[in-house]
Amino acid sequence: MATIVGKGYQSGFGNEFASEAIPGVLPVGQNSPQRVTHGLYAEQLSGTAFTAPRHLNRRSWLYRIRPAAVHEPFAPLAHERFHNRFDEAPATPNQLRWDPLPLPEQPTDFVDGLVTIAGNGGAAEQGGIGIHLYAANRSMQGRFFYDADGELLIVPQQGRLQLATELGVIELEPQEIAVIPRGVRFRVELPDGTARGYVCENFGALLRLPELGPIGSNGLANARDFLTPHATWEDVEGAFELVTKFQGTLWTAAIGHSPLDVVAWHGNYAPYKYDLRRFNTIGSISVDHPDPCIFTVLTSASDTPGTANVDFAIFPPRWLVAQHTFRPPWFHRNVASEFMGLITGVYDAKAEGFVPGGASLHNCMSAHGPDAATFEKATNADLSKADVIGGTMAFMFETRKVIRPTRQALGAPQLQRDYYRCWQDIRKHFAP
Ligand SMILES: [Fe+2]
Repeated sequence: MATIVGKGYQSGFGNEFASEAIPGVLPVGQNSPQRVTHGLYAEQLSGTAFTAPRHLNRRSWLYRIRPAAVHEPFAPLAHERFHNRFDEAPATPNQLRWDPLPLPEQPTDFVDGLVTIAGNGGAAEQGGIGIHLYAANRSMQGRFFYDADGELLIVPQQGRLQLATELGVIELEPQEIAVIPRGVRFRVELPDGTARGYVCENFGALLRLPELGPIGSNGLANARDFLTPHATWEDVEGAFELVTKFQGTLWTAAIGHSPLDVVAWHGNYAPYKYDLRRFNTIGSISVDHPDPCIFTVLTSASDTPGTANVDFAIFPPRWLVAQHTFRPPWFHRNVASEFMGLITGVYDAKAEGFVPGGASLHNCMSAHGPDAATFEKATNADLSKADVIGGTMAFMFETRKVIRPTRQALGAPQLQRDYYRCWQDIRKHFAP
């Protein structure tokens, strides 16, 4: 199948974007004219309730070769590893950590290569998240996917992705993230031949930028650094497959054409990407490490103010200059639950064992913090000099609900069954 080519990006977060690959397609002064130019069909894609408040309302109008309704009936598609069965194994209070998934040996595309590690809530309750890893070694061929259960926050760790979506093409590399809205159809191509990374499937409120409070009108992830693609289309016919994830399981339907046939669109419901290296990292210039929420890139609100369905936070390169301070992230227990991954480098609270492509899970009130080696080093460090945390990018999906690992995650050979030992060498220093 021909590969459609990206046409660049529009800048901003949640803007009223407008893009047309053929000039003059977008109707003026209305959305649904009697006849759309060039014989196209008009179609609305709603990402929030019609009646959501104006500042939260998200929808786009698509002008396309065929309506999205043109496909054959869906039938169940078996996929044992990608699902939302978060109740199939007892949630454990143990600290958990995994080595990276190996790259597949058999031909495996992005959808086939998804493995569900953990999650909470679900599509039916419109809250919670699914946490998945992917490891793939070929582009999706004659195959398109959309997730009706949630938006997909994709965090590549190794290998670039080309996300050919209905609304345009996103080219993505490690240390960038992309969000594909619920319902948007796309195909994943692998320019480097192989790819591996993480996916947060958000069943709750759409991800948005966090409030900045006393930080002011700039800082953290700045809105202008979010990029949404321009319209580009392919007019291709053939015996193709449309795969959807609906209420936790996969379905497949035959489709006789590429659904990536949107010639123009406008609206504020669209895929976007963001380069994590552009994050304006803010920290302490006096004493103590702030709470890690200061590193929040995107947040999905819950019904309780200030208590997120999920926060996506990063631990980027930064200077640590606080005085009289244990500089790494501190020991703690948290009512929220924390899933972490590492994109590149070394995470500053773990000297070893947490490697790029790996993952850790510290659930509600499960105690965790720096390992023994990191503690010894930080408590004896010379604080007259700044620490440079360079060449690293870790991230966290933090949720209000317990993150329940799947049976396959708990049984995986990658699970580090000796993870607890990283704290066993912590010595007693107490001297009354
Ligand atoms: Fe933590």
